[in-house]
Amino acid sequence: MGKSLKDKLSARIKVAKRSTIRELLKLLEQPDIISFAGGMPDPALFPVNLIKEACDHVLTNHSEFTLQYGSSEGYLPLRQELIKRIELKEKTTVSEDEIIVTVGSQQGLDLVAKILLNYGDIVIVEEPTYLGGLQAFRSYGGRFIGIPCDETGMQVELIEDKLKELGKHEIKRIKFVYVVPDFQNPGGRTLSLERRKKLIALAEKYDFLIVEDSPYKELRYRGEHKPSLFSLAPRGRVVMLCTFSKLFCPGFRLAYAIGDKDVIFQMVTGKQATDLCTPAFNQAVLSYVLKKNALDPHIEKLVSAYHVKQKCMLSSLDKYIPPLGMPSIEWTKPDGGLFLWMTMPEYIDTERMLPRAIENKIAYVMGADFFHDSSVRNCMRLNFSMSSVERIEEGIRRLSEVINAEK
Ligand SMILES: Cc1ncc(COP(=O)(O)O)c(C=O)c1O
Repeated sequence: MGKSLKDKLSARIKVAKRSTIRELLKLLEQPDIISFAGGMPDPALFPVNLIKEACDHVLTNHSEFTLQYGSSEGYLPLRQELIKRIELKEKTTVSEDEIIVTVGSQQGLDLVAKILLNYGDIVIVEEPTYLGGLQAFRSYGGRFIGIPCDETGMQVELIEDKLKELGKHEIKRIKFVYVVPDFQNPGGRTLSLERRKKLIALAEKYDFLIVEDSPYKELRYRGEHKPSLFSLAPRGRVVMLCTFSKLFCPGFRLAYAIGDKDVIFQMVTGKQATDLCTPAFNQAVLSYVLKKNALDPHIEKLVSAYHVKQKCMLSSLDKYIPPLGMPSIEWTKPDGGLFLWMTMPEYIDTERMLPRAIENKIAYVMGADFFHDSSVRNCMRLNFSMSSVERIEEGIRRLSEVINAEK
């Protein structure tokens, strides 16, 4: 980079980190690589015919509004459909000024950070957490306090001890807790009901917000639905982000945020400076699909297809891992979502091992990327939605060879 550009760059972009996953994805276009790296839905499951029908309907009947600029809050008929859906699924009511349609939940994360964070403000995050969240918060100057996760998610009971280590002034700088409570990316874990309630009580006591990011909630393969923090908390305490990337298709970049109307108002203001509005055409297509009640049957298909893939990955892991003669290796067995999280002996550094994995035509995401301080080196995230069952088994076999060579 030329010196003159370096001098001009903002502090914001200087601290920003590129997503390793996005970088990896470029590499993984080679068809002989079996990739457990991305978090992408299986393209074979995209509802192409339904989308064709919806596009045709929208173009024939609503072209004058949907090919035009739209409102920053989102296309009203879609917001109305979403409100009905939220009422049904979350058993809570939301009004039209408590919802904004965003360009993916990634934009929701960006907007939340934009309206809440000043340089040096603190965000409490899970360890591990979604790296796109870290990216968004870091780019607005966020600092992090990490709270480790166990089988039932973020160990919420450790938060107060962490707060005791901070001075009063520092506690005031905590703006929000960021939590992915359902089949978390990357760990696959789900926050227990007891911890959800405890987290809300802490947020009330210390007056911080909760940003609940839940893209995988509806991809449940076993067990009971857990109420959202949004539905459990007093209104105004939680901003909830939901996306259609994993339930419909990521190419439409459609998601929404719900929260107190004052928060949503600020997010709308923030969005106006970013992109004016979410494409109305995409919103009208989704609106048609929801009105026709065609999304839920599609989600049922996704759930059964991904469940088969998850079972295949779990049984392949049982078969091949750990390689003979190696100490134990553990992995999560989530009730839903698209990821498993694998923890290896401490001497294995999954970042160091990655180039060899790629040479062996297998890819994963190294765990360090999901920690705000990159401190944990011996974990990896495995995605099972993109590969066929045959490739999943072969991929785990290759992975076992790569791990074995670390002995
Ligand atoms: C936890 C989490 N939040 C947000 C996103 C971003 O999703 P979107 O495609 O809606 O921007 C993802 C995508 O993988 C995710 O896993």
